[in-house]
Amino acid sequence: MINLIIFGPPGSGKGTQSARIVERYKIAHISTGDLFREEMAKGTALGEEIARYIDKGMLVPDGIVIRELKQAVEKHCQQGGIIFDGFPRTLTQAVMLDEMLEGECYPVDLVISVEVDENELLKRLIGRSEDSGRSDDAEHIIWKRIEVYKSQSLPLVSYYQNQGKLVKINGMDPVDKVFKKIAMAIDTYMSKKEVIAEIQ
Ligand code: AP5
Repeated sequence: MINLIIFGPPGSGKGTQSARIVERYKIAHISTGDLFREEMAKGTALGEEIARYIDKGMLVPDGIVIRELKQAVEKHCQQGGIIFDGFPRTLTQAVMLDEMLEGECYPVDLVISVEVDENELLKRLIGRSEDSGRSDDAEHIIWKRIEVYKSQSLPLVSYYQNQGKLVKINGMDPVDKVFKKIAMAIDTYMSKKEVIAEIQ
């Protein structure tokens, strides 16, 4: 049983690395971005409301995020572990997650913060825009998402550092190499309950 958060700016590789983590550690994957895109694809009133934020590169309001997430957490929290991808993104969400996991579920063990330079983020997301079909992969929206990450999500780094759970990973390397570093952090935690603060 291990509960993980993968954290980082847009394009840092959270989705890519989550897929590998799920394959290796057989844990459930909860991506708020995926949950929202599914809702948008259904064309519901909620989906339309969510699209108004995503299309502008803004965060979906905490109230909606937490409501959507609660069901997914209740479904998976007893089943061997979860990786949270793209959640939490604000301090309110982080505090709510801690509360949600209290009692029936298990707390967050590790927060993997993937660090990538802005120019590389832009390059990756512009590359992906050719076939992603994502409305938020346009260049001016990508810059907005990066700005929102810096102002609203980066404070979570000290929140989790203060809890002794944060692992900083240099995410500039190719996918396989980044995954090796993440696996090293997870394996070390699972075998010795030690948190490696930083892996270059
Ligand atoms: P979300 O879907 O979470 O998007 P994001 O955080 O902007 O991240 P991305 O999916 O763009 O990138 P990623 O880090 O997963 O990288 P990926 O692996 O895809 O959220 C979308 C929107 O939903 C938000 O803007 C917000 O509006 C809303 N939202 C979601 N969660 C919310 C929350 N909790 N609160 C409020 N609002 C919320 O990789 C990107 C590209 O790079 C790919 O093409 C990939 O192949 C490539 N790549 C990956 N790794 C490497 C590598 N090491 N080297 C080279 N290329 C790589």
